[in-house]
Amino acid sequence: MNNYLLAPSIIASDFAHIADEVAAIESAGADWIHVDVMDGHFVPDITIGPLFVRSLKRVTNLPLDVHLMISEPEKYISAFAQAGANNITVHVETCPNLPSVIQKIKSFGCIAGVTLNPATPASTIDSVLPLVDLVLVMSVVPGFSGQAFMPEMIDKVQEIRAKLNALRSSAHLEVDGGINAETLLLMKKAGANAFVTGNAVFKHPQGSAAGVRALKDILNV
Ligand code: DX5
Ligand code: ZN
Repeated sequence: MNNYLLAPSIIASDFAHIADEVAAIESAGADWIHVDVMDGHFVPDITIGPLFVRSLKRVTNLPLDVHLMISEPEKYISAFAQAGANNITVHVETCPNLPSVIQKIKSFGCIAGVTLNPATPASTIDSVLPLVDLVLVMSVVPGFSGQAFMPEMIDKVQEIRAKLNALRSSAHLEVDGGINAETLLLMKKAGANAFVTGNAVFKHPQGSAAGVRALKDILNV
């Protein structure tokens, strides 16, 4: 697969200068903007909501890859879709009726994604693999940026890649959490094609544009 995608997570950026932050990663070649939505209930931290996504949409042409780390996400699909989300990914742990949530996301014309915490077995999403456009494998416990990568998630990526291939699915397999130059290569080899990066880009010593270029160079090898 040669369409590897880099999705910097703005959670690690400076929200006070979000337009400049986004312009820098966009001009450096980022593919998506990963938007970490946290409600302080499903995960400890609280970040942003549809209002911020609506403003973000006005300052970038990149697709907005919205990751809902919130309880009862089905209540907010419409608001995020109308705010301009391109991808909407929900946690299997928050959706008792996951197929209907996936269907609702698709009804707005958005890419429908499912994600799972490190402790959640890959088998929990088997039933929706034929339905989704994207699977997001968490390689940290969701809630904060800058955590250590969990190498045991490499096997989970391999397992889900094999299942998607067996289904002849064109769904994206995205990874999220502790992704940097070293761990990105491991996850690429395991079968991921989309990579969320927070600190590796926005806290790069030479700046976020250099961070994007360094990781895109690895993806384009
Ligand atoms: C964790 C978020 C991730 C994370 C990425 O709860 O979903 O997107 O912030 O940041 P890094 O790449 O710094 O782990
Ligand atoms: Zn995320």
